[in-house]
Amino acid sequence: MCGIVGYIGTRTAYDVLVKGLHRLEYRGYDSAGVAMISPEGKLNVYKTQGKVEDLERFCDSKDTAGTIGIAHTRWATHGEPNDINAHPHMAPGGRIALVHNGTIENYGVLREALEREGRVFRSETDTEVLVQLIEYIKETSGCSTLDAVREALREVVGAYAIAVVDLDNPGTLIGARKSSPLVIGLGEEETFLASDATPIVEYTDKVVYLNDDEIAIISRSEPLKIITTDNQPSQIDIKTLRMSVSELEKGGYPHFMLKEIFEQPRTINDCVRGRIGNSGSQVTLSGVIENKDKFLNARRIVIVACGTSWHAGLIGKRLLQEIGRIPVEVEYASEFRYSNPILDERDIVIAISQSGETADTLAAIQMAKERGAFVYGVCNVVGSSIARATDSGTYIHVGPEIGVASTKAFTGQVTVLAMLALAVGSIKGTIDKQVKADVVKGLRNLPSLITKTLKLNDQIERLSATYTYAKNFLYLGRGYNFPAALEGALKLKEISYIHAEGYPAAEMKHGPIALIDRELPTVVIAPDDEMHEKIISNIQQVKARGGSVIAVITKGDETIREIADHVLEIPQVPECLSAIITSIPLQLLAYHIAIKKGCDVDMPRNLAKSVTVE
Ligand code: M6R
Repeated sequence: MCGIVGYIGTRTAYDVLVKGLHRLEYRGYDSAGVAMISPEGKLNVYKTQGKVEDLERFCDSKDTAGTIGIAHTRWATHGEPNDINAHPHMAPGGRIALVHNGTIENYGVLREALEREGRVFRSETDTEVLVQLIEYIKETSGCSTLDAVREALREVVGAYAIAVVDLDNPGTLIGARKSSPLVIGLGEEETFLASDATPIVEYTDKVVYLNDDEIAIISRSEPLKIITTDNQPSQIDIKTLRMSVSELEKGGYPHFMLKEIFEQPRTINDCVRGRIGNSGSQVTLSGVIENKDKFLNARRIVIVACGTSWHAGLIGKRLLQEIGRIPVEVEYASEFRYSNPILDERDIVIAISQSGETADTLAAIQMAKERGAFVYGVCNVVGSSIARATDSGTYIHVGPEIGVASTKAFTGQVTVLAMLALAVGSIKGTIDKQVKADVVKGLRNLPSLITKTLKLNDQIERLSATYTYAKNFLYLGRGYNFPAALEGALKLKEISYIHAEGYPAAEMKHGPIALIDRELPTVVIAPDDEMHEKIISNIQQVKARGGSVIAVITKGDETIREIADHVLEIPQVPECLSAIITSIPLQLLAYHIAIKKGCDVDMPRNLAKSVTVE
């Protein structure tokens, strides 16, 4: 999970590359580098530990001329983040440079074999093995760089998206992919290469998504050519991007995370638009209509996902069971793929992923397909690997999410899962007419309910100052809001580095209650729903032990206001949609606590936006 950019054309490549790296920095930000072929025919490689802005400072007085180049922003897997392990990696001959996103699993064996041939390695990375292997094949067989790349890729096991420049072909850029994304942007007399479309969108809307085992030959003088690693020609399928540059900028907010939190009235509107009408209770999901029989006859549904998407999956389980009356299991994709699951053509697997690139989710999908299950995707990034690997699906359409902490994607995922449950419940006849009408009305009202909820921002900012001291936090919720508690805890820990645990409120007395003292704040998600009475007693149990309570309550709930230390009031919302609303104050709480602690909320330490490695 690193970011790759490549450029060939008439502009100064360095400018395009660095701008592109900034866009891809969400994918990794522990080191960055560029390689350009200068007009004098020199391969200039500059790289440094740190963020892209550090690279820019490093390159300040360097020769960055040239109209062809490649660049990389890294999230370390093999070898610690330092200057040497940073990409691009050069072959010892100094004529080939390569950037890589992914993991070469057999790099140890390959490295030993190359070392036996007398080759010396400078870095600890798997990537250097690949570039050395390309150079070795080229030198020993006398073949072209393209053939050497092709041969090398046939020898490696693992995942890769790569971009290569070499001095023997200064007018050609080579890109290739297997299980890691790579998009080609087709401009006028210029071509772009990137891990996703964000570095490309301001130059062209014409893109080609490379498929697994394909190699792109991007030449200054000839049209784009794509071949497979078996040397067969591939079809070039040009798509039109639906993305705007403004979506990729902070739009006046100090951080992408805050911008994305505040975008939610619009993103949820985009998510439901065309799927529910302005009136009535019709829900139209083409993926369900086209696969009606699959959903009618499904024996069970297995939801696979990671992180925040897994939390959305837990809510999806409840929705699909309650409304669609289908048994549902929710699995961490990383566990599921190694669990030898019992699956066949009677099962539906729903894969949820914002990025559509998460390696474990992708592997779970492949396994499910091999076993005959029908795989349905709930993704955000259009054209992503998961979106393309699934049999059908529904996009959440919340626009690019750049902050590492997922916010608007979570609410979009839950919204799609609610619509999915309604669509399935309708075709199965398992949903009461009035209930359906109420939930659809609730979906329609979500944007305005979110707008009201966002008014809590100032109160939460003030409140956050009280809690920066905390070393631990407990989040409690019940029913639909237990996953919201897990999500609230994840938000806090990933951006503020405060340890936080989410728990079903009633489970607290079976262990975590022992943790409660004056030092442990508890966030209780307690809207006015069926569990209201029960959660009040959970709050009392915390208070009786000296703990402080921040409660998310429905507006006007005087009972909880009396006993909690702080209350955050949200509007009334149908119970099955409530996590969409309750998660918003929790996003804001995590954001403001992290800001008060001086943390980098958009690029928290050790994390990256999409996890394309195991
Ligand atoms: O792109 P995905 O939804 O597949 O990503 C899954 C997780 O990596 C992601 O949700 C992660 O947990 C977020 N950083 C949480 O905010």
